[in-house]
Amino acid sequence: MKICKTQKGNILETAESVPNHHVVSIGKSGTGKSSANANIAINQQDRIVIIIDYHNSFDKSTLTESNKNYFNKNSFTIDVAEEGIPINLFDPIIETDIENESMIERRITKMLSNATGLSRTQEDITFLAVQDVLQLELYHDEGLSAITRWLRSQDKSVANCAAGKLRSICDTGILYDESFWKSDKKIYYLNMNGLDYCEQSVWVNFLMDYFMRVAMRGFFKNKGVTFYLDEVQNLDFREGSTMFTMINESRKFNVNLVMAAPSLFMKKELEILGQCGTILFFHPLQNDKKKVASLIDSQKMEKYVFRLSQLNVGECIVCGTFKCKGETVTKPLQIAIDL
Ligand SMILES: Nc1ncnc2c1ncn2[C@@H]1O[C@H](COP(=O)(O)OP(=O)(O)O)[C@@H](O)[C@H]1O
Ligand SMILES: [Mg+2]
Repeated sequence: MKICKTQKGNILETAESVPNHHVVSIGKSGTGKSSANANIAINQQDRIVIIIDYHNSFDKSTLTESNKNYFNKNSFTIDVAEEGIPINLFDPIIETDIENESMIERRITKMLSNATGLSRTQEDITFLAVQDVLQLELYHDEGLSAITRWLRSQDKSVANCAAGKLRSICDTGILYDESFWKSDKKIYYLNMNGLDYCEQSVWVNFLMDYFMRVAMRGFFKNKGVTFYLDEVQNLDFREGSTMFTMINESRKFNVNLVMAAPSLFMKKELEILGQCGTILFFHPLQNDKKKVASLIDSQKMEKYVFRLSQLNVGECIVCGTFKCKGETVTKPLQIAIDL
């Protein structure tokens, strides 16, 4: 996987031997993470690339000339606020004999619950709603609002609370019953910026859950998929979560994640860093400088504290195992991302 060019114009690629092809860029706002990640993701031209653009993280103007051309020719744009998102949510994922009705009901309930934080009892009553919506085939005409309509009809506080939490996904009429995979373009560009700012992350959780389930059915096994996903500090990475599974089962599913976050130094987040084959450290937040330096090389922390303080926009220190001019590189490298 191509990361970038070095100052001398050589291509820096991840080595075949890396445990996975995930990339995470860390650094304070405005240091060049999203621009670097957008180019890394779009460089992966043999794979399907899904760009999740929320909180205005993806800026086409920061693509290199050749990536811009590739993007323009090969991308299929979905403006979520304008046109909604096609998803055959109530159809079995991939093959009928693998997923039966009760599994569909459980899958949908779990996805809604994970994205909106339903309590156990709220999840239980939502499950009944999902069951009925499936039986009566309401999703095709009514979308997910059939679920909240069902819940509200119960006149019961737990059902009303569940409906309240589910509102941002169910009552917006954003999902409609068509296949997501109808384009043969290589890049799916999901633009979510027209949605309410806070609701965008709820949708990201929901969609990643959907994509993970598609991945679990082996859909990307041969073609491979790369997700561009910014601001991952908003997502759940705890054991058993969607993102945890995506990161850890990447080889089995053939899923690569290209992620960015300002800081990932909470205890649970440090595990994410440990799981990513390639890390790009951009100019860190003041409070993170020593932590980053010690992660890069705990023996030479002072050296990296200084190097990190010196980084300009678009410059970073990369850690991982790389190939460059036929040689294997394992020591941290300072590079400038050339746009
Ligand atoms: N490698 C680069 N070279 C020159 N300018 C850059 C580079 N990367 C980013 N920029 C500029 O800096 C701005 C912020 O970059 P961005 O990638 O959005 O940072 P972040 O995601 O860390 O907030 C961009 O609008 C872009 O114009
Ligand atoms: Mg950014």
